[in-house]
Amino acid sequence: MDTIIEPFRIKSVEPIRMTSRAERERLIREAHYNLFNLHADDVIIDLLTDSGTSAMSAAQWAGLMQGDESYAGSPSYFRFEEAVKELMPFEHVVPTHQGRAAERILMGIVAGPEAKIPSNTHFDTTRANIESTGAEAVDLVIEEGLDPDADHPFKGNMDLDRLGAFLDTHGEHVPLVMLTVTNNTGGGQPVSMANIRGAKALCEEHDVPLFLDACRFAENAYFIKQREEGFGDSSVKEIVREMFSHVDGMTMSAKKDALVNIGGWLALDDDDWAREARNQLILTEGFPTYGGLAGRDLEAIAVGLREIVDEDYLEYRMASTRYLGNALTNLGVPIVTPVGGHAVYIDAKRFLSHLPPLEYPAQALAVALYTTGGIRGVEIGSVMFGRQPDGSEEPADQELLRLAIPRRVYTQSHVDYVIECFEELVDRADEIPGYEITEEPPQLRHFTAHFRPLDPSAVHRETTPPAHEHEA
Ligand code: F0G
Repeated sequence: MDTIIEPFRIKSVEPIRMTSRAERERLIREAHYNLFNLHADDVIIDLLTDSGTSAMSAAQWAGLMQGDESYAGSPSYFRFEEAVKELMPFEHVVPTHQGRAAERILMGIVAGPEAKIPSNTHFDTTRANIESTGAEAVDLVIEEGLDPDADHPFKGNMDLDRLGAFLDTHGEHVPLVMLTVTNNTGGGQPVSMANIRGAKALCEEHDVPLFLDACRFAENAYFIKQREEGFGDSSVKEIVREMFSHVDGMTMSAKKDALVNIGGWLALDDDDWAREARNQLILTEGFPTYGGLAGRDLEAIAVGLREIVDEDYLEYRMASTRYLGNALTNLGVPIVTPVGGHAVYIDAKRFLSHLPPLEYPAQALAVALYTTGGIRGVEIGSVMFGRQPDGSEEPADQELLRLAIPRRVYTQSHVDYVIECFEELVDRADEIPGYEITEEPPQLRHFTAHFRPLDPSAVHRETTPPAHEHEA
């Protein structure tokens, strides 16, 4: 059969509240044109993130009932630890409330004013946690990874020549090297096993540990199985185990490929770093057998980790992301290709080519998509990355609008609705106005910044509903 179906049935549902276009126009204005400020029940299809938005399985909900809430030594912790070590056999597993807590604890131990930490591309929270210690976060993704059109099976790969040169020059200031799998900021693009091995070899030469930012490890492993020679006959679980066998530690947001709504961990082999991490954990997260989590959360992670390496699930997951990407391509919407694992990334620099980067084309597109269909995506461009540590502003490498697909949540007809909204946007892309920032915090500004359309009448023009919708 060619039709790849959702490999699950739906047992429990959540209603979606419908809104009119006029209503959305008001709501987005009141949200200062920042989609993070919207109430989620004013959103029809929420593609803001695939993080913490997964639908849990019946087995995970059943697992919650087994949660043991003992302050210390909870059996839930040991079930969680066993499930993690089944895939990622590190010596120490330190639970945290989510990925960024693991990053903060790790960077608090290893980074600092002199340190430089390379990665393929750091995610925004990782970068912020590095920079907040005074250290420098350095992105060394391969050239193809910055070109939305480049056709490469592993566009998330680290540029090993540049990493080698970087370690030759700065090695003594590099406490660790990171690799983000998949490379979220670069389009959800995978990293090959050869690249992980190559990075490890360079790190070994310089006696520097290698860590994975492993949020979407199962999607990355599935890409390796499909695209990398020699892995076609391996199981995803074997590939996952091999990925982690080459590295010295990991940070994890369980909100992605552990199929839960909250959670994370730091896992590593180094005893001294682990001791310091647990001391930090007790200060800010909680006792080492629960971190920032309830026992029941640890149970849900343990079950989720067994479900995520299911290959029927992963086949459906990749097929559904590709389905949206291919449909947008057929409409002429420029996207990052090949399509990544968890999201489709629209190249707003090209789609709204009349807007310069510092008029935030991807933010402009995000607002237009919301007013058109109540769909919420997220800007990954100059709003997210344009502000420099010294307060100045530089255009980001790319201006992307990410449509992230929550796991096991939306069906094909939801996605068909998204595609139909784009049919309309294609026709009036050149009318969409640029934006300026009117208020922003010093760090991670995209979450709370306020915006103003540079041509407010254009917002109104481009969002004016057809007459029949007014009457509705
Ligand atoms: N690393 C990567 C690659 C991520 O994508 C995220 C989160 C984190 C670290 C931080 O994890 O949210 O649990 O603290 N990404 C979400 C996203 C927020 O929408 O892509 P967290």
